[in-house]
Amino acid sequence: MDMSDSTSTDRLRALAALLNSTQRFTGALRPICLAELDEVWQLDLRCFVDGEAYERETFNYLLTSPNAIARQIRTDKDEMAAFIVALIEIDGVGHITAIGVDPGYRRQGLARLLLLNIEETFRNRGISTIRLEVRVENHAAITLYEELGYVLVQRLNHYYSSGADGYMMVKSINQPELAAPADSAPR
Ligand SMILES: CC(C)(COP(=O)(O)OP(=O)(O)OC[C@H]1O[C@@H](n2cnc3c(N)ncnc32)[C@H](O)[C@@H]1OP(=O)(O)O)[C@@H](O)C(=O)NCCC(=O)NCCS
Repeated sequence: MDMSDSTSTDRLRALAALLNSTQRFTGALRPICLAELDEVWQLDLRCFVDGEAYERETFNYLLTSPNAIARQIRTDKDEMAAFIVALIEIDGVGHITAIGVDPGYRRQGLARLLLLNIEETFRNRGISTIRLEVRVENHAAITLYEELGYVLVQRLNHYYSSGADGYMMVKSINQPELAAPADSAPR
């Protein structure tokens, strides 16, 4: 997989190579540009069939805000197979606002790869906490997040417009360690 993204690290490249060597999927991970607004909106509609899909205007905001990060995985046939959008909130928390994988490309590690990629971007921007919300019945997503180290911290009653409850999940990410003073032996 081509990781044409300035924040990609060797670790992510290795992960992508591993993905391509173990799965049948091949493609490219890259930012989403404004010209792809309708494509990501349509993919979101295919992913969130429960009425929780974003408005087109929300994607317009997410693709133009300086505090937003939007990434996609494209297939070799130049189709958008997966997307993730996130915001750096005013309190400095990295907020994953939406992630979706086209039903035809699920269980091939695409969501895991996007989450690791966005995590690396947050880390590079000095962010130490990531937050997201998920419907309590969305066991697939909760399993994915827990596998990556996210922890349930709060139930959000009637969080969704349908009235469904959500969970807030958070993950602490390590920042590069500062050189410790010579006398700071571990206790
Ligand atoms: C949730 C979603 C993003 C997962 O995408 P994906 O690319 O299929 O996920 P991955 O292949 O990266 O899965 C990684 C791991 O997550 C877990 N997982 C993913 N989908 C799962 C499912 N349907 N059931 C159980 N576990 C699942 C598994 O542990 C999986 O590892 P494995 O395949 O080795 O067992 C996708 O199902 C989706 O787009 N759903 C609709 C939109 C949505 O619910 N988004 C999240 C909103 S908070």
